[in-house]
Amino acid sequence: MDNVIVVASGKGGTGKSTVCICLSVALIKQGKKILLIDCDCGMRGLDIMLDMEQDIIFDAADAVCGNCKFKDAIYKSKNNDNLYLMAAPFDAENELSPSVFKQLVNSVKEEFDFVIIDSPAGIGSGFVTAAAPADRALIVSNAEPTSVRGGIKVRHKLEMMGISNIRLVINRFDRKLFNQLGFYRDLDDVIDATQTQLIALVPFDIRISVIMQRGVAGLNWCAAASVFDCLALRLEGKRIPLAYKG
Ligand SMILES: Nc1ncnc2c1ncn2[C@@H]1O[C@H](COP(=O)(O)OP(=O)(O)OP(=O)(O)O)[C@@H](O)[C@H]1O
Ligand SMILES: [Mg+2]
Repeated sequence: MDNVIVVASGKGGTGKSTVCICLSVALIKQGKKILLIDCDCGMRGLDIMLDMEQDIIFDAADAVCGNCKFKDAIYKSKNNDNLYLMAAPFDAENELSPSVFKQLVNSVKEEFDFVIIDSPAGIGSGFVTAAAPADRALIVSNAEPTSVRGGIKVRHKLEMMGISNIRLVINRFDRKLFNQLGFYRDLDDVIDATQTQLIALVPFDIRISVIMQRGVAGLNWCAAASVFDCLALRLEGKRIPLAYKG
């Protein structure tokens, strides 16, 4: 199964880390076992967002350098059964090499139903490493021109790397603001501009922000949780219609 997914974006702050976590929680609800890998070297955040900051001793760079076994850098969440995290190196100079990272992910991926990799923004070397082991990709974009342009660049780079299973997640969507700003006529315009098939439309929801700073236990309280439930089902190949008005 194509179970290694990289979550990427051209511009920073579109919601990649948030999508990684919310999607993982949704997949776990469906009985899946998930390895989340933070590949944002020097800027890691998933450990804080998952309330696992104090647990991390070894990170991905330790595993790559042989300071520990790869499995010793994988930590089980105490709050979410079936959720495992590998943290990115704390220092940016400990960047990982794409080939070694791919080899390491390949050595553990069969133990999980999905491996979800949180990429740094952009198409630099950090992104290339994050995408190296991926079978497929989610591009997270906001419905605004700079974000969309970044998404197209990511798409082209992924294709050059041989990854063709690419889907679009539009995040932080606020219909009223979208209409007021008028950058695009409708959502179909955004999808056309990214040249990428839409797999989820996540509303702007301030509760997501709050929940992400306090651990994910409250995610079910938030309206966007059902969007991630549907995204999880679609990733498993289920045909769930996208409910949006262009
Ligand atoms: N659907 C949403 N509704 C409201 N706020 C959101 C939503 N998604 C993400 N956010 C908020 O947007 C901010 C950026 O999100 P996040 O850190 O996930 O982005 P990122 O793409 O991982 O950023 P970076 O490029 O810096 O790694 C955070 O404050 C987050 O809580
Ligand atoms: Mg992030």
